[in-house]
Amino acid sequence: MADADTTESKNYQADIPAPNEPFFLKGSNNLDWGMKNRLSQIFNPDSGRTVMLAFDHGYFLGPTSGLERIDLNIVPLIRYADTLMLTRGILRSTIPPTYTRGIVLRSSGGPSILKELSDEEIAVSIDEAVRLNVAAMAVQVFIGGEFETRSIHNMTRLVDMGNRHGIATLGVTAVGKDMVRDAKYMRLATRICAELGASYVKTYYVDEDFETVTASCPVPIVIAGGKKLPEAEALQLAHNAVQQGAAGVDMGRNIFQSDAPAAMIQAVRAVVHENMSPKDALDLYETLKNDGARRAAS
Ligand code: R5P
Repeated sequence: MADADTTESKNYQADIPAPNEPFFLKGSNNLDWGMKNRLSQIFNPDSGRTVMLAFDHGYFLGPTSGLERIDLNIVPLIRYADTLMLTRGILRSTIPPTYTRGIVLRSSGGPSILKELSDEEIAVSIDEAVRLNVAAMAVQVFIGGEFETRSIHNMTRLVDMGNRHGIATLGVTAVGKDMVRDAKYMRLATRICAELGASYVKTYYVDEDFETVTASCPVPIVIAGGKKLPEAEALQLAHNAVQQGAAGVDMGRNIFQSDAPAAMIQAVRAVVHENMSPKDALDLYETLKNDGARRAAS
């Protein structure tokens, strides 16, 4: 039989107020618990930043360089990522279901590299996203593109569906071949995504005034790595972005097309989570590449 429930046997610690801390991510304080929990599977609550390992390129490129065998080339890297950005086909077929960090699901698609790329539709149902236990759905937004309105509508529908289930939406700003990649364009594109409900936004780093892009976007920004650069330049890019207000990187080719992908993702982590200088991170990359060693988890 349970003890009698007397006030004397309890300690309410009435002199200690309950914590009432703001959520660590910019613009996200008023979200519900489930959404905050999923965002915490993407962004590290200690640093407030993320290293997303992006390998969704096959959704329009097929087996591009570095992604010919995701089981062999990418699965060994997933231990170093805060979250994975990928398609449902690769998730189901190739990623071990024992993976417990955040999944950011590529949720738009349609045209291949052989066609007009901006002609995308929503490519997943919300039931499927829930079934796959994803933390966020990623959708391409083509501001200034031929199918601008439809791509925005794709995003707002995913925002509505995701919000019903506490699943975040990543607005991915896609810049057309003929468009100028400058801060003015990035401010426009990222702000539109945030205004229309994206939980966070992916964009490209620009050399001039990038801090105005992060300042004018009320939700976190992550930067895409873009085409393969020498490792020193890619580490400098990541450093510049986070020092100018980005909440991390969504990096693909600069990791999986590196000569030493495991060394590179660990060097990127050091830049993003530890504010390591690009020079020290390059030294770390070279050391890890040469001795094949794994750094203690950061
Ligand atoms: C494009 O195919 C995807 O949205 C990628 O996830 C994104 O561009 C990041 O990959 P990368 O660093 O290779 O640009």
